Amino acid sequence: MTLDDPGNVAEFREPRPIHISGYERQQNDFYPTPAWVTEALLDCVTLRGPAWEPCCGDGAMARVIQDRGHRVVASDLVDRGYGEHGVDFLAARTFPEGCQSMVTNPPYGDGGGSVKGVHARGALLGFTHHAIKLTEQADGQLALLVRFQWLAGRKAASLISSGPLSKIVVLRRRIRWFDMGPMTNHGQHHHAWLFWDCHHERGKPPEMLFAG
Ligand SMILES: C[S@@+](CC[C@H](N)C(=O)[O-])C[C@H]1O[C@@H](n2cnc3c(N)ncnc32)[C@H](O)[C@@H]1O
Repeated sequence: MTLDDPGNVAEFREPRPIHISGYERQQNDFYPTPAWVTEALLDCVTLRGPAWEPCCGDGAMARVIQDRGHRVVASDLVDRGYGEHGVDFLAARTFPEGCQSMVTNPPYGDGGGSVKGVHARGALLGFTHHAIKLTEQADGQLALLVRFQWLAGRKAASLISSGPLSKIVVLRRRIRWFDMGPMTNHGQHHHAWLFWDCHHERGKPPEMLFAG
């Protein structure tokens, strides 16, 4: 590349703002997680006992956890043909009986999406707060898949560190949330698993791992 020959100009295009993918968002933020993402988590953490997937969608994540030998209680607000439907996670007061861990890809609620009909800017903070509270009550474990950039927000960072954060599993590959053949954009965001564990030694910093 020279000043006279700029080479591949696409490299110099303005990056898209973080929440703009060019696609309409799905209702209630329904995006099934590719199997490799859950496998990457389970390669890095050990779940104690049965797991709860409270936003199970069509079971994409729950099936992978089951295939690794865990019993899974799966529920979702919406009927997507898997697990128990009509269960609002935000109204739950405890983990389901017997569950000691919770693993999910929560609704991010941005891009004009809504969770339960409420405009949901900041919905992920509310979801995470509730999830940490239930996990601490259960003396359990919690794995949430979030955008990597989200961790650095002031409110998110303070909330994340308010619980017993044990591991951050950074995914090296970007997730492609759906396949529209040649029309599909490359994944726009990097993601990470946040893993809280009430048996993590208090005050000990979390471990950061790379996977996927
Ligand atoms: C991003 S999708 C993830 C689906 C699944 N966890 C996966 O990874 O394949 C989010 C799911 O959360 C569900 N959901 C949204 N708000 C919810 C709520 N308040 N309680 C339970 N499920 C909810 C949606 O119906 C949707 O299926």
